[in-house]
Amino acid sequence: MEVLEAIKSRRSIRRYKTDQIDDKKIEAILEAGRWAPSWGNTQCWRFVVVRDAELRAKLTDTLMKIKLPDKEIPNPAANAMNTVPVIIAVCAEIGKAGAKHGPGGGGVEYATDKGDWFMFDTALAVQNMVLAAHAQGLGTVIIGAFDAAQAEKVLNVPKGYRVVTLFPVGVPDQEGKAPPRKELSEIAIKDKF
Ligand SMILES: Cc1cc2nc3c(=O)[nH]c(=O)nc-3n(C[C@H](O)[C@H](O)[C@H](O)COP(=O)(O)O)c2cc1C
Repeated sequence: MEVLEAIKSRRSIRRYKTDQIDDKKIEAILEAGRWAPSWGNTQCWRFVVVRDAELRAKLTDTLMKIKLPDKEIPNPAANAMNTVPVIIAVCAEIGKAGAKHGPGGGGVEYATDKGDWFMFDTALAVQNMVLAAHAQGLGTVIIGAFDAAQAEKVLNVPKGYRVVTLFPVGVPDQEGKAPPRKELSEIAIKDKF
């Protein structure tokens, strides 16, 4: 699949078949993540591939409800988490992305006023991975609304690392509808903002 076509046709998939996915396809997804760019090539990401049913159920339990103005609804990705054979938990080592080289006096010193770039670097890897899944006919949905501290306990994530996102990987059981995007005229700026 051509890159621009993959970018445009990828959708968040929230309904899946229960079909298994072979390791080769998962490996291709991880490989795409591995080749993402990162701050100073620090590669702070770690990818936990969860196939164990009990762990998948426990991760599903970490999903947060979504607060709407008038009510709370279950996270729309909860069903997806319950059906897929694989969940990838993307973790980051803290204090690497964005850090100045060498030891900083006592704690980590960051090179910019944005501090740790771990969210940024892991996001690049995640986008590579969801596109690689899509190019292989698989579906994903990136999940941010979950209790990360609880997910870290479930997965034995060591101190110094955070779980940034979870994404289920499975065979889609729906087409996925594209939510509208802002027009370029609203978001692209010529010369000065
Ligand atoms: C950082 C991030 C967090 C998200 N968290 C959730 C989530 O918790 N639950 C969910 O169902 N979708 C989640 N999504 C998916 C978005 O709702 C989805 O990407 C957006 O509506 C655009 O739709 P599309 O991915 O089909 O283009 C998240 C996406 C991103 C990038």
